Amino acid sequence: MEELRQKYIAAISEAADEGALEALRVQAVGKKGEVSLKMRELGKMTPEERKVAGPALNALKDEINSALAAKKAALADVALEERLKEEWLDVTLPSRPTRRGTIHPISQVTEEVTAIFADMGFAVAEGPQVEDDWHNFDALNIPGHHPARAEMDTFYMARAEGDNRPPNVLRTHTSPVQIRSMLKHGAPIRIICPGRVYRCDYDQTHTPMFHQVEGLAIGKDISMANLKWTLEEFFSAFFGTHVETRFRASHFPFTEPSAEVDIRCSWEGGTVKVGEGDDWLEVLGSGMVHPKVLEAGGIDPEQWQGFAFGVGIDRIAMLKYGIPDLRAFFDSDLRWLRHYGFGALDVPTIRGGVSR
Ligand code: FA5
Ligand code: MG
Repeated sequence: MEELRQKYIAAISEAADEGALEALRVQAVGKKGEVSLKMRELGKMTPEERKVAGPALNALKDEINSALAAKKAALADVALEERLKEEWLDVTLPSRPTRRGTIHPISQVTEEVTAIFADMGFAVAEGPQVEDDWHNFDALNIPGHHPARAEMDTFYMARAEGDNRPPNVLRTHTSPVQIRSMLKHGAPIRIICPGRVYRCDYDQTHTPMFHQVEGLAIGKDISMANLKWTLEEFFSAFFGTHVETRFRASHFPFTEPSAEVDIRCSWEGGTVKVGEGDDWLEVLGSGMVHPKVLEAGGIDPEQWQGFAFGVGIDRIAMLKYGIPDLRAFFDSDLRWLRHYGFGALDVPTIRGGVSR
């Protein structure tokens, strides 16, 4: 028995891992282990012999079991020590810099504009950027021969060879959404439509892709006075201060009468400043919706009338945030984006509430 004891105690203390330990357990005290087999022999002994050998074998079994348990705990401790040595972490190190994107000024301003008009009861409508000829022109009282088609520097889509329908266009303004909204909802109506538009144009205040927000309000007694009030209310909410505007008589085939609005600004010293200087920047076109346009939208011009406007979102973004060149908006220059971009949590800077 002493031989067994020495053999297993020594082997256990030398076991390298849990696997070796388990093999020893099976070999010593498992069902067919050496100690277990010895215990079976107790039956063949005389009572006197059994009295001595029984407790001794039990004691040996206990001793081996506790040696196994102790060694198992010791091996686990060692393993943990090793892991702790390997997996340490210096929580005092400065964190890695995270790259943070910014909200593009156009996205920011679109949100601001939408919030202001929502406050005045305008819902948001949308339309496709690839538009058909009828919605972009004909329905807006711009027939095929009309010079306005040429003025708009339209980008035309290609038709398949042999397809003689007029080509689709990249919409040149957001006004086709007026038609789509009238046909869909009928009168009365009060919507805005922000979105991308395209024209073959390129200088400091013109880019081939830019943004407009269309407005349309149709009712029984909506007049030019309501249009003027709405736009002035919009400007003071958007710019947060009084800005000087100039309503200038103009012409659009889809409105009568028509007006364009300019805002006083200065271009001194490489920046653009609103409300000072001797220059004017055109920001929108507007007017009373032409009866033919109401008809194209399925609305009876004998019963209904209203106003519409189309604001250049990029232009008012330039003015509000002092960005002197529109082309830079779409250059994707990271330095520009970091400088003029907004944080995700920046609240749109609009004057709270609109007076009624
Ligand atoms: C129109 O597009 C009319 N659809 C506006 C309108 C709507 C009139 C409803 C009446 C009723 P205009 O071509 O003037 O109008 O463009 C409107 C505004 O878009 C301009 O005042 C200007 O702010 C902006 N804009 C025009 N072209 C560009 C361009 N290439 N880049 C940036 N902004 C532009
Ligand atoms: Mg214009």
